[in-house]
Amino acid sequence: MTFGSLLLLVNVVIFAAFIQQKFFSGDKLESKLMKQIDATYDYIIVGSGSAGSVLANRLSKDPNLKILVLEAGTDDQQPSADILKVPMMCCMAQDTEYDWKYYSVPQKHCCKALERERMFMPRGKVVGGSSQINCNIYVRGNRKDYDGWAEAGCNGWSYAEVLPYFMRSESVEPFDTMEKDYHGKSGPLGVIKNTVSNVAAFLIEAGKEMGYRTGDYNGKEQKGFFGVQTTVKDGERCSTARAFLWPAVKSRKNLHVVTSAHVKKVIIKNKKAVGVEFYHQGTLKSVSVNKEIILSAGALSSPQILMLSGVGPKEHLKIHGIPVIADLPVGDHLEDHISFLFYYKTKENFFNSPNKTQSLWTLAQYMTTKSGMLTSPGGLESLGFISTDAKTTDYPDLQIHGLNMLLDESMIRHIIRIDPKYMEYYSGINDINGFVLYYTLLRPKSHGTLRLNTTDAMQHPVIDPKYLENKEDLETLLRGVRFSQEIAKTKTFKSLGSEFFHKPFSPCLKNTKFDSDDYWRCYIGYFTLAIYHPTGTCKMGSVTDPTAVVDPQLRVKGINGLRVADASIMPSIVSGNTNAPSIMIGEKAADMILGIKPPTPISHL
Ligand SMILES: Cc1cc2nc3c(=O)[nH]c(=O)nc-3n(C[C@H](O)[C@H](O)[C@H](O)COP(=O)(O)OP(=O)(O)OC[C@H]3O[C@@H](n4cnc5c(N)ncnc54)[C@H](O)[C@@H]3O)c2cc1C
Ligand SMILES: *[C@@H]1O[C@H](CO)[C@@H](O)[C@H](O)[C@H]1NC(C)=O
Ligand SMILES: *[C@@H]1O[C@H](CO)[C@@H](O)[C@H](O)[C@H]1NC(C)=O
Repeated sequence: MTFGSLLLLVNVVIFAAFIQQKFFSGDKLESKLMKQIDATYDYIIVGSGSAGSVLANRLSKDPNLKILVLEAGTDDQQPSADILKVPMMCCMAQDTEYDWKYYSVPQKHCCKALERERMFMPRGKVVGGSSQINCNIYVRGNRKDYDGWAEAGCNGWSYAEVLPYFMRSESVEPFDTMEKDYHGKSGPLGVIKNTVSNVAAFLIEAGKEMGYRTGDYNGKEQKGFFGVQTTVKDGERCSTARAFLWPAVKSRKNLHVVTSAHVKKVIIKNKKAVGVEFYHQGTLKSVSVNKEIILSAGALSSPQILMLSGVGPKEHLKIHGIPVIADLPVGDHLEDHISFLFYYKTKENFFNSPNKTQSLWTLAQYMTTKSGMLTSPGGLESLGFISTDAKTTDYPDLQIHGLNMLLDESMIRHIIRIDPKYMEYYSGINDINGFVLYYTLLRPKSHGTLRLNTTDAMQHPVIDPKYLENKEDLETLLRGVRFSQEIAKTKTFKSLGSEFFHKPFSPCLKNTKFDSDDYWRCYIGYFTLAIYHPTGTCKMGSVTDPTAVVDPQLRVKGINGLRVADASIMPSIVSGNTNAPSIMIGEKAADMILGIKPPTPISHL
């Protein structure tokens, strides 16, 4: 099976759904809700993504508060957005109207085989933000991540203190198969255990042979091999728009959501945020605020808005002629997850993924019961968290995503953006059977920067993640290469005739011997991909921390009435995918803004 045939399939689903009208969930909302803008609000939320939608819901609960959400993207209620709802198609939204389509600047230590040596960095540009285009994988990270935040001065963010927020947002099914002290069953966010092919079972078995456990990676222990938990409900993507935003818009009059509203800057007077300026319907408009403005525009946009508002590194703002209101290290701590991937060849197509003859069955299954292959999170149905370094034995340093099919040539171009001149290396890939394992560096030591390119708010910023600048990162990935060869030697892999599949890459053979450590260091420098988790650009820290932009209450230092609540505040990137943590950040921010006493820490676990 190829992605091409899947795409065709889904187009058929969407066409059929269009004819059937009511196939996908969600009522088409009255457009006037989206257009109404008053002069003043109590709270203005910029961005309706993973964190912003949660805030919109929690803050509008009090009918006496008036809330405005300004979202640069479109709404998700039009028929063309139906493709976002099919979990299997999560990759297809990249490079469409629902994507911001960011790129890094050319990278020195990686991405050599990618077009213009740049990393593609998609972000959701639609109500629900990146939770609309992500792969739905539900991972919270490691408890030590949050304990580390607290130790670094972020009071209130230890694992025991954030766990109640993860649980509050979630409604997991089947609850009984999870470690129940760690999960919620009545939150708005639908989470399910989702493996429709047998690849996950296969990897779990291989993991066991290598001494790894299985179970619930969002429970007591993260390490091991697992079937994936996903944000899917009734067979469709459970974006934060679906879970948090729309139900609040529908039932409350005090919440206004305006789409295609691109925020330019926050208006700050006497060190107090008093309103925002935004482009809407071709003009620059402004709206004022009584209480607070919350930036939830994501890790690549919140820092841009801050800098355009006069909050950022002094020297940098001066270059652009922006009056400096607060000199803060905005954009200084960009962290992201970087990966490489390997192919595993199998004798036959033993996975129960649909081949051509099964496609019609897959389609029929989805159309009738919203189940089957199309509910799979882009085919990424298994996860492994492994420790490759003696020092981190109880703190995994690599994550494995198991994809239950091969990336064919068209997907390699579409997702990884391999430069056409290196596509030759992949010739013949469409003819083999197998699956793919992605190896991701969980806690990079390399940090990059985000800076303004121009003062035009509509232009993208200059993003330089400086991937692999710190040599230790490359060494960790190298240990991942060795692991990937080891797992291929397990009885499980052998019994099914599957093997590590790698074509020697000639540019790396000029100066190194095949399969030497240096060969792999060279190889990784060419073939790397990001898994879209930029964080840290508006870093949280104690008030006295010179590297921090916001305090542990998420208040921008030195400015009143302005907070940041999204993935950009992470003081250090979490050891896992970043959607669930961003939702947690939204939950906790809402309580802090409303002055609600935090839930009792769950410290007995
Ligand atoms: C392709 C892809 C796959 C991913 N897969 C997974 C996965 O499987 N599991 C996982 O956990 N994580 C995944 N992630 C990461 C995860 O989705 C993000 O980390 C998370 O959604 C970030 O949430 P956020 O609230 O910080 O920002 P976002 O959700 O990106 O929200 C920001 C919002 O602000 C809006 N905005 C931006 N600028 C402006 C402006 N100037 N004015 C007004 N509005 C603005 C945006 O349009 C957007 O709606 C993936 C991400 C991508 C892109
Ligand atoms: C497709 O699947 C059917 C049923 O599992 C199998 O018999 C057939 O050999 C498969 N065809 C290909 C081309 O893999
Ligand atoms: C910065 O802006 C210039 C002029 O518009 C453009 O040519 C360049 O590509 C931009 N750089 C980045 C990194 O976006």
